[in-house]
Amino acid sequence: MKSPQNMYIKSIVLAVMMATSSIVYADNPVATSGKPVTEQLVDTMTKLAGGPHEGYRANHAKGIVVQGEFTPAKTAASLSKAIHLQTTKSPVIVRFSNATGVPTIPDADGNAFPKGIAIRFMLPDDTSTDIVSISTNGFPAATPEDFLGLLNAIAASGPEAAKPSPVEQFLSTHPAAVKFVKMPKPAPVSFATETFYGVNAFKFTNAKGKVQYARYRITPVKGTQFLTAAQTAKATPNYLMDELPIRLAKKPVQFKLTAQLAGKNDNVNDATAVWPEKRKQILLGTLTLKTIDPDGVKFEKANMFNPLSLVDGIEASEDPILLARPAAYAVSYGRRLGK
Ligand code: HEM
Repeated sequence: MKSPQNMYIKSIVLAVMMATSSIVYADNPVATSGKPVTEQLVDTMTKLAGGPHEGYRANHAKGIVVQGEFTPAKTAASLSKAIHLQTTKSPVIVRFSNATGVPTIPDADGNAFPKGIAIRFMLPDDTSTDIVSISTNGFPAATPEDFLGLLNAIAASGPEAAKPSPVEQFLSTHPAAVKFVKMPKPAPVSFATETFYGVNAFKFTNAKGKVQYARYRITPVKGTQFLTAAQTAKATPNYLMDELPIRLAKKPVQFKLTAQLAGKNDNVNDATAVWPEKRKQILLGTLTLKTIDPDGVKFEKANMFNPLSLVDGIEASEDPILLARPAAYAVSYGRRLGK
């Protein structure tokens, strides 16, 4: 029987990107190893996904890679002197993905949320810069330690766990995680009809030296579109991965890239703090996605997107979640390459 409590636990598990059918429940909620927190995070993600799944990401394992270009808007230079935000177009490689480290997760599975987008801008000097975002406006934890606490609590909250379970205990003292769980996460019609949020703030500097903190937002030009509950229930396991090539064969897909400016009192170092919707957004440009990358499978294995791969005019904030990400991604990347 589906008791409210069971449903609650289920929704937690759904919300924090982990798999149900393949979840392996740990005996002990507390990580005891002396490893860095970032490595422990990857270990727990791997465990929750029933991994290791050789050659795949520890999170956002299932994805599809496309190619296109980014055209900066005239307003972009008012925010940043970054080279790709001036006048010239940049080629881009974009990877859309499902949450969890389960490479075969069905696209409409509740655990496959939030969806991800990773954008690599290829710059004139043969370097690149990345944006890595998700389809929720906000994150369940403000620090890597709290995120690890949440994931470990989920891993220890199997059917056999005594009540209150570790995840229930965690939630009772972490309102931000509860808020994240309650955010609606509907299944998109297509990766092309989903909005993505930067979640972490960055510090932007324009040519006049003006500094502003902002968060990225990536919005489909044709608007968001989601499946109904009935359509979601009937969706085929790879419906998103199958749909995108068909859509792109007909015509390109466009997204607006904007930056939501922080207000004077907005917390720029807390990924759980959602800023008021009325905050000004500056249009940075348009992403035009044209083709599926024919070498996408090879590319995604051989490359790691890095939210801190930045250029002059864009710097990291002090957000501890943002600062932890490259180390965690590097652990996953190293394991993917068998190192
Ligand atoms: C401490 C917090 C976080 C941890 C430990 C974490 C962990 C990971 C790991 C291990 C990967 C796989 C990387 C690889 O193997 O290349 C990954 C991928 C990803 N993460 Fe995170 N993540 C965190 C926060 C976030 C946040 C805040 C966002 C969005 C704003 C995000 C969005 C993504 C996306 C979209 C991918 C897939 C990137 C790709 O396509 O290559 N993550 N994450």
